[in-house]
Amino acid sequence: MKKILLFIFICSISFAQKKTIEQRVDSVLALMNLEEKIGQLVQYSGGWDTGTQTSRPREGHIELIRKGKIGSLLNVFGAEETKKIQKVAVEESRLKIPLIFGLDVIHGFRATFPIPLAEASSWNPSLVEKSARWQAIEASSAGIHWTFNPMVDIARDPRWGRIMEGSGEDPYLGSLMAVARVKGYQGNDLSANNTIAACIKHFAGYGGAEGGRDYNTVDFSERTFREVYLRPFQAAVNAGAATLMASFNEVGGVPSSGSNFLQTKILRKEWKFDGFVVSDWNSVGELIPHGVAKDLKQAAELGIKAGVDMDMEANAYYNHLSELVNEGKVSQKIIDESVRRILRIKFRLGLFDDPYKYCEAEREKNTVMSKQIVQATLQSAREAMVLLKNKNNLLPLKKDLKKIAVIGPLANSKDDPLGGWSQQGNANDVVTVLEGIKNKLGKSTEVNYEEGCTILGEEKNGFTKAVELANASDVAIVVVGESRNMAGEASSRAKIDLPGIQEDLVQSIQKTGKPVVVILMNGRPLTIPWIQENVSAVIETWYLGIQAGNAIADVLFGDYNPSGKLPVTFPRYVGQIPIYYNHKNTGRPYNPNDHYTSYYQDLENTPLYPFGFGLSYTTFTYSNLSLNKNKIKKNESLKVSVNVKNSGSVDGAEVVQLYIRDLVGSVTRPVKELKDFSKIFLKAGETKKVEFTITPEKLKFYDINMRFVVEPGDFKVFVGTNSEDVKEASFSVVD
Ligand code: GLC
Repeated sequence: MKKILLFIFICSISFAQKKTIEQRVDSVLALMNLEEKIGQLVQYSGGWDTGTQTSRPREGHIELIRKGKIGSLLNVFGAEETKKIQKVAVEESRLKIPLIFGLDVIHGFRATFPIPLAEASSWNPSLVEKSARWQAIEASSAGIHWTFNPMVDIARDPRWGRIMEGSGEDPYLGSLMAVARVKGYQGNDLSANNTIAACIKHFAGYGGAEGGRDYNTVDFSERTFREVYLRPFQAAVNAGAATLMASFNEVGGVPSSGSNFLQTKILRKEWKFDGFVVSDWNSVGELIPHGVAKDLKQAAELGIKAGVDMDMEANAYYNHLSELVNEGKVSQKIIDESVRRILRIKFRLGLFDDPYKYCEAEREKNTVMSKQIVQATLQSAREAMVLLKNKNNLLPLKKDLKKIAVIGPLANSKDDPLGGWSQQGNANDVVTVLEGIKNKLGKSTEVNYEEGCTILGEEKNGFTKAVELANASDVAIVVVGESRNMAGEASSRAKIDLPGIQEDLVQSIQKTGKPVVVILMNGRPLTIPWIQENVSAVIETWYLGIQAGNAIADVLFGDYNPSGKLPVTFPRYVGQIPIYYNHKNTGRPYNPNDHYTSYYQDLENTPLYPFGFGLSYTTFTYSNLSLNKNKIKKNESLKVSVNVKNSGSVDGAEVVQLYIRDLVGSVTRPVKELKDFSKIFLKAGETKKVEFTITPEKLKFYDINMRFVVEPGDFKVFVGTNSEDVKEASFSVVD
């Protein structure tokens, strides 16, 4: 009888529309005992040991859910599967608090989009928002309430495999991409059944791992932390992100998953974040190997007191929070605060009002891999590609060529275009490069394929056939790069040239004297100076997802004029790392005429391709860079305009980029900082006037006293087609 009354009471709460979410949270919290409160802070993964497409809870978890001892599951999906489990929580537990189901929907649930680094290469935030929207529509139809994305870690070291998951080296571009994905996932109504909670990760500083070695030590100044690595997190929090994920790494001696400075001082006190923080996988437990906790009990105490609300898979909160509270080491208040944050997001998701609204099998069947979503992956893939070289306009190729050789270990791979973190992405859904080219061309063109070599192997016996095929063809398209598992988590590489003997293969094909196009398929910048020097055409395609082949064929044969720009610098050699565009000037900036300056003796001291670089099948001419004033007060804005002409013969899109340099500050300032960009479309011969506004916000930085301010002084403004090829002007800020 008591249960029924309680159920009616909870339901009456949920129907009391006028009650605010905070009041409803308080009502539920007041009913909970300590065990049930701790249960909300516990997250476990589904068990891959079930061997089915849909992973199921591990042995014993259903009983724990029935007892209210688990608040969230990850890696469990499927409308029917999640409904079955949700029913246990909502109909069989004492307080009927719904579970929240999380999953790594990083670039798609089943319909795989280009990897995030590829999408960032589009420099098209609205396209990226649409992509995230489609991903949310698909994942939510499969019972998912919450994605562990966007990953917003700034990465300046391409040895780090997770560079593929983020938006590159720049905080401004990274912030726009982070906001676009939060908006795409969460939409305008988080309680709708086709929106999902975002999770900004990995908070924070994870991309700064020393040596680009995953999980490694991170140590940089608070100023760098705030100005570079924290910027995208702050932008995403300001955009209303529902959750964050604490990172594995330490920063300056304090592991993020036990850092009060990060999870409370910055996130809650400064940024006023009111959602919740989930740990990374066992990252609370890893406070022990980090050496700041002697055992799991101390790790639990550090984590919850830091402000990490939910424990993913460490068993720390499950096993020790109750005794920590009973021993007076952790206050009930701290527990209540974390529970409140989690309940708040569950209410915002509408899970209390209708815990089964994500569990409609019919919707899942009609949504997953729908035509519109597949089409959306194609447009994302087109805009993600970066044309790195096109000597003598070899590209676009003619569609009436007689014979085309398609060569290389990635040319017909069904698996690799999915990239890392592809979730339920299925290789059978992938259009390979070879298939895309065949789809594009009529029967009059003979398209033949030779693998040539494998990605990592040292065997050259496939070269002969590949060279013969190239010799017998009008053009050779060589698809090389990394396999999908060479970039992503725990996939750092000390050498970032083409793996195996792939470059030897390219050289052998180049020696035939036939026109050669190199297609790169990879998850990080690669050091390919020989290819850049010797091959006529090079396209960076990253991992483009299920429509890779069709998108690449669209670019190869001119049905899409490439418009991508690099979100990350390509070094010539791994020894140049870290190399990034927004570097400091130093006291001895490189001067080729002065021995005693900052450079390497044994190579050309420039990137292979600079940040923001990308060519087109047309040309764009910049002129009339002008400022509406050359002097502004600290609280005033400045208007910048430039004329951009499509001076070629093909319609195309151009990303007009605006950088500034603060020449003198109370602390050293980068030689360039991206502050705005505009992706415009110009018909052949068309000219557009592009205007930007430099607001005081764009001039602020952390001064010598760590105040975020505008300082008076002289500035340069640069506008152009990439971070190096720019026109410049000057202005001053006066007190
Ligand atoms: C992984 C990753 C994190 C992911 C989580 C859940 O270790 O670091 O990005 O969201 O575990 O799969």
